[in-house]
Amino acid sequence: MTTSQSSTRPFPLEEVRALPKAELHVHLEGTVDPATLLELAERHGARPPADTVEGVQDWYRFEDFPMFLERYFAVLELLREPEDFATIAERYLDAAHAQGAVHVELHVSATGHIAEGGKAWAPIHDGIVEGCQRAAGRTGISWGLIPDISPHLGAEVCAEAMEEVFAHDLDHVVAIGMGGPAESWPTQDFEAIYRRAESLGIPGVAHAAEHGDPWEVRHAVERFGARRIQHGIGVVDDPDVVALLVERGIPCDVAPGSNLALNAVASPAAHPLRRMLEAGITVTLASDDPPLFRTSLLEEYQRAWEWCDLDMDGMARLARNSIEHSFASDTDKGRWLARLA
Ligand code: ADE
Ligand code: ZN
Repeated sequence: MTTSQSSTRPFPLEEVRALPKAELHVHLEGTVDPATLLELAERHGARPPADTVEGVQDWYRFEDFPMFLERYFAVLELLREPEDFATIAERYLDAAHAQGAVHVELHVSATGHIAEGGKAWAPIHDGIVEGCQRAAGRTGISWGLIPDISPHLGAEVCAEAMEEVFAHDLDHVVAIGMGGPAESWPTQDFEAIYRRAESLGIPGVAHAAEHGDPWEVRHAVERFGARRIQHGIGVVDDPDVVALLVERGIPCDVAPGSNLALNAVASPAAHPLRRMLEAGITVTLASDDPPLFRTSLLEEYQRAWEWCDLDMDGMARLARNSIEHSFASDTDKGRWLARLA
């Protein structure tokens, strides 16, 4: 990737906005901004975690990953009716479109809603589809869904919940995913869920080495057949796992703002993004849970610009990676790549 020498150059915001790009790692429930959270609480007569936008903004500060997950699951609890899901999906696709995204793959915490929330999948799915179609009808943005597994719920519970997902409309499901802590991976059979998805023609992706060690990435690739890794920032100190990603051309959907907000890295200088690029790992940029981490897709491109001294060729390379490694149709990809050429 081309790099430039100066680190004080202003970020070319409008040029980067104009690049067609895909966002492959954003959690639908993690797009609930403070005002929307208050709106949802009001809609359901539920008690919000704070009474004001500023209060919720403060509540969206996390010392560590467990604290984040606890609050993320509290947000899930406020999403109850199909229209709640439609509202947040529509709002996020509009926001992504305004940043130049042409395609978004929305991770949805399916097992969280089904197994922990006791909610039915079909109305959730249909609400999301309704919201995405509303946004797409106005903007032309393309989108897909990645229902995901929360491993802290256990493999058996997740397998049962994912059967409910597999039994409903799969037309918009581009992959299944996995988020959350990986401690239970070696001792529980999450592989079976990925194999089941594969038997239905659905590929897998997985969060790995976000806070944990490189073995998570090897496990996700070799056992789950993961076609993309979310984060993967822990791999840089393990040349064998780096080689695995490079040789198989498996990208990492990196979310630097998220890594800072969750203290997965201590500072921008400590973030391995530059080393990942230099090692030849294919990187796509993503915002993960943007309002929870006070970030956006364009701010992630700005971080890469500043931290890695990239020039516009570097920005375009990252945009191209995101399109090439998306699950969009070949026709759409061809159209967007032609615009990038
Ligand atoms: N779910 C939502 N955001 C996540 C993250 N950053 N890591 C793992 N699971 C998540
Ligand atoms: Zn994530």
